[in-house]
Amino acid sequence: MKPELAVNIEDLHQAARRRMPKVAFDYFEGGAEDERGLARNERAFHTHRLLPRYLVDVSEIDQRRTLFGRTYASPFGITPTGIGGLLRPGADLMVARAAAAADIPYTLSGLSTTRLEEVARVAPQHAWYQLYGARERRISEDQIRRANDAGMHALMLTVDVPVVSKREREMRNRFGQRLPLHLYLEALRHPAWLFDYFRHGGMPVFENWAPYGEHGSSAKAVLKGVGAQFPVSDQTWRDVENFRRLWPRPFILKGILHPDDAVRAAELGVDGILVSNHGARQLDVAPSPLEMLPAIKAAVGDRLTILMDSGFRRGSDIVIALALGAKFVFLGRAVLYGVAAFGLPGAQRAIAIMQHEIEVTLKQIGCPSLEVLGPQFLVDGDRNFPGPT
Ligand code: FNR
Repeated sequence: MKPELAVNIEDLHQAARRRMPKVAFDYFEGGAEDERGLARNERAFHTHRLLPRYLVDVSEIDQRRTLFGRTYASPFGITPTGIGGLLRPGADLMVARAAAAADIPYTLSGLSTTRLEEVARVAPQHAWYQLYGARERRISEDQIRRANDAGMHALMLTVDVPVVSKREREMRNRFGQRLPLHLYLEALRHPAWLFDYFRHGGMPVFENWAPYGEHGSSAKAVLKGVGAQFPVSDQTWRDVENFRRLWPRPFILKGILHPDDAVRAAELGVDGILVSNHGARQLDVAPSPLEMLPAIKAAVGDRLTILMDSGFRRGSDIVIALALGAKFVFLGRAVLYGVAAFGLPGAQRAIAIMQHEIEVTLKQIGCPSLEVLGPQFLVDGDRNFPGPT
């Protein structure tokens, strides 16, 4: 199959599934425990409907959005995802390039397998960095300094990993350890993936952590170093204050779900929150971000910028989140499927599909510009009709 034959994100999803061995696919597909959160994230969008208005001139649609002083071509960007090298070698750089070409922001994961300086080089106007705090705070402070020196536009501190969650697919697959025999045999049925993986040296390295390890720079040695530093169970608002002070440009907390935490973030001078449940990979019984969005919006108003991720698979999902008050949306698996299946053209295809679906949705609801998109376009379960506008 060629990437241009994928008509929606689900087509890319299935193509990625075919190309990847189960052990790698499960890592990026899976959620925590019973994976109820995965279904909840997607279902949350289904409880909202968009109420179309016709006889509006929609011959020109403007889906540009300004965020933290920069205007992007679309109201979505790429959320951070770790171990990109497992999708295919160079996946992080492919997605960064696709994002830059489409003029949307790209966030490099703190657990990426590509050096942040390299991503800043290929996407100088679009690269953001996501920080996972380290137990030794000097490591976090050094990563902040490096991201700043590299000119990354925004820093995203992820706060929703106080502990490694219970991801049962990974436990069964013995992910990161010696593979069970049946998974070795299964992997042999995906020769293109295997060939790429071994041609590029096998297990990818957590490049951004390589300078801090005491055991050397091999993939295993760096993994051991990361294991000694992450996750951080004693990260608190004092770290937020400290990191905020050290970072001169937009500073975002990723993983906020409680309105009071959003208010606290605003009080500490945080510029934005990314309302997220980590794509249902952490607390399986957490609410979906879309469920919490109205309460968070009511609590903080315009005191900080509200971003959102988790479960976006359609352009109409993005339109719904924006109508509910999110300023910008971030995509995880939707774009990973594309790059896993087809590399750079697949990432480009995923972005193009979403852009096209946003345009088609906005035209159908009679909304020529995001500036006029709001709750007046929504019909939901509680409120059958929003009333005259
Ligand atoms: C993630 N996520 C994540 N978040 C983060 O802050 N740092 C990270 O390194 C990762 N790594 C990661 C790997 C993979 C494979 C996935 C799928 C997700 C969470 C990510 O940023 C985001 O919150 C979710 O992916 C959003 O949900 P969707 O769009 O994947 O449904």
